[in-house]
Amino acid sequence: MILEVKPSRGLKGRVRVPGDKSISHRAALLGAMGQGVTRIEGFLESEDCLATLHCLSLLGTPIKRLGPGSYEIHGQGWDGFQEPNDVLNCGNSGTTMRLLMGVLAGQPIFSVLTGDASLRTRPMGRVIEPLRSMGAKIFGRAGDTRAPLVILGSGNLEGKTHLLPVASAQVKSALLLAGLRAKGITVVTEPGPSRNHTEVMLQQMGVPVRVDGLTIAVEGGTLPRGGQVIVPGDISSAAYLMVAAAVLPDSDITIENVGINSTRAGIIKVLQSMGADLQIEPLPGGGEPKANIRIRTSHLRATEIGGSIVPTLIDELPVLAVAAAFAQGTTLVRDAAELRVKECDRIAAVTQELGRLGVDIEERADGWVIQGGGSLTGGRVSGRGDHRIVMALTVLGLGMKSPVEIKDAEAISISFPEFVTTLKELGAEIEERAANPQDRQAI
Ligand code: S3P
Repeated sequence: MILEVKPSRGLKGRVRVPGDKSISHRAALLGAMGQGVTRIEGFLESEDCLATLHCLSLLGTPIKRLGPGSYEIHGQGWDGFQEPNDVLNCGNSGTTMRLLMGVLAGQPIFSVLTGDASLRTRPMGRVIEPLRSMGAKIFGRAGDTRAPLVILGSGNLEGKTHLLPVASAQVKSALLLAGLRAKGITVVTEPGPSRNHTEVMLQQMGVPVRVDGLTIAVEGGTLPRGGQVIVPGDISSAAYLMVAAAVLPDSDITIENVGINSTRAGIIKVLQSMGADLQIEPLPGGGEPKANIRIRTSHLRATEIGGSIVPTLIDELPVLAVAAAFAQGTTLVRDAAELRVKECDRIAAVTQELGRLGVDIEERADGWVIQGGGSLTGGRVSGRGDHRIVMALTVLGLGMKSPVEIKDAEAISISFPEFVTTLKELGAEIEERAANPQDRQAI
């Protein structure tokens, strides 16, 4: 699919973004591995989260769709999952694969996990190694570092203490979920604060979790108890609309019901430090904190992003690079080497594709140096089949002087299927069209 993005201005209106991807995955997985029925409202019906539901149903979990975003998941409890009679295909979703590894390590069944070409290049040793130290039998391609993976689940896991070399919510969550079925206590210490949705949801589902700074501990023996999970809007999806409204002239939008958990809300702090005209109106209610976010056209200033804020905005860095391209001055992004092992090498992809459109951007091993305010004239780029690259390039395209064509754009359905419709509703000019053979040669 090709996106044709035209110079736009005057984004106006109130919109919602779809449910949070991380919370949707967790609600389905914790519901399925737990006891009783979990009712989810606001579940993100995107390819990534549907991959999680597909794997869970192959594991024998009854899943009922009650309406758009509304699901009932029947917990499989201690008797656990059925051995799947097919490979569990996690698609493009690292969260599905890594969290399932933790769930399946302690189930006495045989399973094989695979994914698309991107997921099969991503590092899995970071989960395999610590799970093995707990007694799990997991094997993978490339010396036990890549999918496809084989899991020979065991009912005899033992709790261990893990010191993670990188702040990764997926690794942390896999170990905590394995810990629920292990003997004794599983302790995870992170080098920085990654998103804490697993810890929050486990507590809401009646599992005691001890959190002391960057150390989290669970004791085996208690499974999550079903109940209701209401998923707020995804701040990572809202990020594209926020940056678009900040950089396009004459814009004033409100995004309703966005999750603002502090381990995810780094983008709000960074945009504020760049001088964005941003108002946060917190909403009442239990569970994950949420707010309406109003953002208007802003004169952005350059900033520096690095250190412990990085894991709280890791998925937003491509679109923050776009914000930096429109800001006054030189923005430095560092400590973000994790971007190289996401759905694609996002440091290289952002450097090359933004550079193609005239952005003055220099690649560093762990980030970029971006000179804002250059002359941005349009052209053709590739979304690299990575949802966050496609959406960041779209925002950049809207702010250009002439149109931008983005190929390999279908990846938006990974996390934000309504992306184009939502932007159009706000007044942006974008068209989707099927790729033809000339398009394939063009870039
Ligand atoms: C996620 C964690 C992050 C993030 C990803 C979703 C999650 O990755 O980039 O999109 O749902 O746990 P890390 O595990 O590397 O933190």
